[in-house]
Amino acid sequence: MTISFILNGEDVVVRSDANVRLVDILRVNFGLLETKAGCLTGKCGFCAVIFNGSVSHACLIPAFRLKDSEIITIEGFSQTDEYQDIMAGFAGAKLESCGYCTTSKILNAGALLERIKRPSRQEILYAFSGIKCRCTDPEKLVEGIERTVELRQRRIYGRSA
Ligand code: FES
Ligand code: FES
Repeated sequence: MTISFILNGEDVVVRSDANVRLVDILRVNFGLLETKAGCLTGKCGFCAVIFNGSVSHACLIPAFRLKDSEIITIEGFSQTDEYQDIMAGFAGAKLESCGYCTTSKILNAGALLERIKRPSRQEILYAFSGIKCRCTDPEKLVEGIERTVELRQRRIYGRSA
């Protein structure tokens, strides 16, 4: 089948069998190798992408669901100011990270802050509850997001809220 969708802000078309996984399409057809194939069962978060505004596992999205969708991968998100804010916020909070689920954490942070400009501690913990991270202290994650909010505020308005 031929499928049109938006990938990192660009209209794209791909020919694929209906059940090919998005993670494979991204890697094979578009060379987006930062979306990695790990467990292929929705558990590890290696393959996280933003799919129609929500963080999703690209290993669980078959090609037929891509029609007219919008996908943002970590490669696309890394071109944004929001990505820079998150990286600086996480670095400021000294988040421990082995890299295993870093993409998932960054994209979750981006999607959360897109939905809620100044999330509460509860909202932050809830947003990250689906990531089974062995490295990052949840309190550090909260601090990292709060720092990100402040940095974004300063970038946009030149001051803290
Ligand atoms: S490869 Fe592990 S969640 Fe997709
Ligand atoms: S960064 Fe190590 S498991 Fe999440």
